[in-house]
Amino acid sequence: MASAQAAVLNAVREPLSVEPLAVRDPRDGEVLVRLGASGVCHSDLHAITGDLPMPLPCVLGHEGAGVVEKVGAGVQRVKPKDHVVLNWVPFCGSCWYCNSGNAYEADVPLDRACLIGCGVMTGVGAVINTARVQPGQSVAVFGAGGVGLNVIQGAVLAGANPIIAIDLNERKLGFARQFGATHTVNAGSTDPVSAVLDLTGMRGADYAFEVIGRPEVVTQAFMAIRRGGKAVVVGVPPATAMVSVPGMLLPLAEKSLVGSLYGSANMTRDVPRLIDLYRAGKLKLDELITRRYKIAQVSEAFTAMEKGEVARGVITF
Ligand code: APR
Ligand code: ZN
Repeated sequence: MASAQAAVLNAVREPLSVEPLAVRDPRDGEVLVRLGASGVCHSDLHAITGDLPMPLPCVLGHEGAGVVEKVGAGVQRVKPKDHVVLNWVPFCGSCWYCNSGNAYEADVPLDRACLIGCGVMTGVGAVINTARVQPGQSVAVFGAGGVGLNVIQGAVLAGANPIIAIDLNERKLGFARQFGATHTVNAGSTDPVSAVLDLTGMRGADYAFEVIGRPEVVTQAFMAIRRGGKAVVVGVPPATAMVSVPGMLLPLAEKSLVGSLYGSANMTRDVPRLIDLYRAGKLKLDELITRRYKIAQVSEAFTAMEKGEVARGVITF
């Protein structure tokens, strides 16, 4: 048995309880990781509000990195003391809820590495793996939060131009420029669809990414793409929400509307790639962390995200 502090969601819309939990030893195929840091992701906030239904009680903090403490029988990929990024989509092929990590050399601090475990992979992967954006193609990004900024830096890596960032919050639009957006649009004061058309020769963008989780913004993303363009939904709308688009444009304008989960990533291939890009100075991780917290401040961290004060907050243990 190991023990650790955890942020526990006992009921929807109730304050999180930070409490010690006893964790049993890992069984066959399981790995026990002591988390060093966890990014504060909006998906956890969706779980708190109930928009993303979760079996309760549950421990929040899936954007994690840490050090392997123990491994169960049959675990080959990692060993105790390995530094790992958590992967919340299984890849062992035998167990749906497996929580294996991907080992990397210990030179990348855990507070940067954890971001790769969700937001960075989700955002960069949506551009590189899901959409496969080509150099010179135009990209519009709706939502410049912790994940949206990574869609923007994914678009930079892909050589996209222009890269148009849309948000309601000027601070987020400032971050967007820092991450490589060539143009920014405040959707609070400017119609974002018209703005994207204006910036793309009135054709519409080759790709638009919705990185918020709002059905009406999915519609905007669809309207902002050109004939034959693709709107990629990364944000997670509430479980009961329906999304509407003008049906006629699906065949007549040959538009596509697709979803992207976890950047369509192959984690064993893509985590080391992203870590290498960070080491080479081509992937911004340090700049994402605009505030740090201890676990006792977890509620404060979510409030700051809701108020749009941070690019990404990170909890360190
Ligand atoms: N138009 C434009 N921008 C908006 C709008 C809107 N109508 N509403 C909200 N935003 C912006 C916010 O100002 C914020 O910058 O969307 C951004 C959301 O960012 P975060 O709160 O940091 O959320 P993030 O962690 O990036 O997650 C976004 O992606 O993976 C999913 O589950 C995740 O659905 C969530 C989404
Ligand atoms: Zn997440």
